[in-house]
Amino acid sequence: MDEQFMKWRPDFNLGIEKIDEEHKKIVELINKLNTAFMNDTADKEIIGILDEMSDYANYHFKNEEAMFTAKNYPFSDEHIALHEKFIKKVADFRMKFESGQAIILKVLGFLRQWLTDHILDADREYAVLVRSNK
Ligand code: FEO
Repeated sequence: MDEQFMKWRPDFNLGIEKIDEEHKKIVELINKLNTAFMNDTADKEIIGILDEMSDYANYHFKNEEAMFTAKNYPFSDEHIALHEKFIKKVADFRMKFESGQAIILKVLGFLRQWLTDHILDADREYAVLVRSNK
């Protein structure tokens, strides 16, 4: 009955506790947005969830980026560019939704796919280095 829109998968675990917890929180926020959408929640609250998503993602990205600096991660610039692109995309969705476009389904699909790909690809790449170079 209470089927989650996005489920945590074992292969999302990167073995860095703080980062795994932050990723779980982003999954929670995606599910929160889905629940609000399914319950026909007021637009104002949907916008609030998009803002929460953007704020939390920003917080999480800064934590990863601080780790890149601390560990001299060589692909830091490329990874930071992915983070910036994501924040812009969410801001763009927010603007479109606020102007009356019915885009939440599209937003949900984007968020789920983006996070899945990002964790399994870009984040996994730096996690290997961080774990091997404590
Ligand atoms: Fe976990 Fe690069 O975001």
